[in-house]
Amino acid sequence: MYENLEIVRWPDPRLKRPSTEVEKFDSRLRLLATRMLELMREAKGVGLAAPQVGINIRMFVMNPTGQEQDDRVYVNPVLTEGDGEEEADEGCLSLPGIYIPVPRFRTLRMQAKDLDGNPIDQVESGYLARIWQHETDHLNGVLLTDRMGALAKLANRKKLKELEEEYARAHPELAAAASKKKSSPRLLRK
Ligand code: NI
Repeated sequence: MYENLEIVRWPDPRLKRPSTEVEKFDSRLRLLATRMLELMREAKGVGLAAPQVGINIRMFVMNPTGQEQDDRVYVNPVLTEGDGEEEADEGCLSLPGIYIPVPRFRTLRMQAKDLDGNPIDQVESGYLARIWQHETDHLNGVLLTDRMGALAKLANRKKLKELEEEYARAHPELAAAASKKKSSPRLLRK
């Protein structure tokens, strides 16, 4: 049922839409998570959020090592108790070729549900906590483009323009809607 899913790229408007809570923990949800893990692996990513496959629900998958036993799925994640700060470069499967330094909390607590609806309560630091924050951003419609300072915008201007052009070629009607939403006015108004 999810065979045709693919990773959507900026400026697809679904990436900017806040996602809704998952209420049904059924076999569809499990299928979606399995397909997302496949897509993430194929793209050599460490995390993938549902809006990145065009489905605006609050779920993400991740795998920090690439080993199958390290697959993780979080549904309805809530991050609290952020502590410390660390800056490191981040990329995003929806913004290929773009890497920018992003300051994040060093340590956080995650409360979420697993695919059966059972509670998850974990604390992580460093790289894992960074993935949590990046993926939770996706569920709120927040992208690396929103975390870019003026310098990073300038440095990545060409790449962003290429992505816009690629998107406009593939979806002429949606690109027009995205430019109305002013997701990136400076870049979209030529
Ligand atoms: Ni991302």
